[in-house]
Amino acid sequence: MLKIDKLNVIVKDKKILNDFSIDIKDGEIHAIMGPNGTGKSTLSKVIMGNKNYKIESGKIVFNGDVINDLETDERARRGIFLSMQNPISIEGVQNSEFIKTAINARRNTPIGLYEFIKEITAKASELDLKEDMIHRAINVGASGGERKKNEVLQISLLKPSFIILDELDSGLDVDSLKKVCESLNKYLEENPKTSVLIITHYPRILEYIKPRYVHMMVNGKIVKTGNLTLALEIEKSGYSDTFNISENKVYE
Ligand SMILES: Nc1ncnc2c1ncn2[C@@H]1O[C@H](COP(=O)(O)OP(=O)(O)O)[C@@H](O)[C@H]1O
Ligand SMILES: [Mg+2]
Repeated sequence: MLKIDKLNVIVKDKKILNDFSIDIKDGEIHAIMGPNGTGKSTLSKVIMGNKNYKIESGKIVFNGDVINDLETDERARRGIFLSMQNPISIEGVQNSEFIKTAINARRNTPIGLYEFIKEITAKASELDLKEDMIHRAINVGASGGERKKNEVLQISLLKPSFIILDELDSGLDVDSLKKVCESLNKYLEENPKTSVLIITHYPRILEYIKPRYVHMMVNGKIVKTGNLTLALEIEKSGYSDTFNISENKVYE
């Protein structure tokens, strides 16, 4: 589904992604862990087409097409969704109106108002998201946790085929994280071809949404790949020890 080949990305003359490669197939869940400032959020923004990040060389291939130069809205139309590390608020744009417009951008005939309201209300209740969040301006006055829930609400309504979760777990309390992950798992069961890239510092989210591969990223590239055992090792020993001490160890 998503293949990245030797991607080099610069931000304000600083090289952030360094020959970064990854291959995520249909229906696979991958996780990336890595120290602060290593380029994880940069990666997610580059996949989504943020213009502040310049691709120097390399390719991003989505479902067989090179998407390096596509606009963000076209990437979204093709099914890519980024749940941002810090979702912003937007004054003057009603949340439900925004979601409905995004849904319709991917449909030939607009969604019926009754069907839409029914679906958004049901999903908000599944996520334990206060109903007035739906009708307010996007994330205005919302807590960190509510913003994250709102991202997952968008996922369940927009039905993307490739989902990036950039630190979804930050800002969510233990109960909310469980609820949000249950909702995402339900979505993945109903849409088994969906692929997910989870960026996180903690194994907890990976115990709910189980990745097939866990990658450790340092200085803009993947330096080690394993499974959940690698995530647990990182939690126990930290990034540098996991990298240094266990250089030849295979985490399976
Ligand atoms: N818009 C930007 N302007 C300047 N520097 C940036 C910008 N975005 C990211 N960076 C820098 O790129 C590096 C990687 O950041 P980021 O991708 O957010 O790391 P991570 O998500 O792994 O913590 C950091 O040094 C950060 O300061
Ligand atoms: Mg980040």
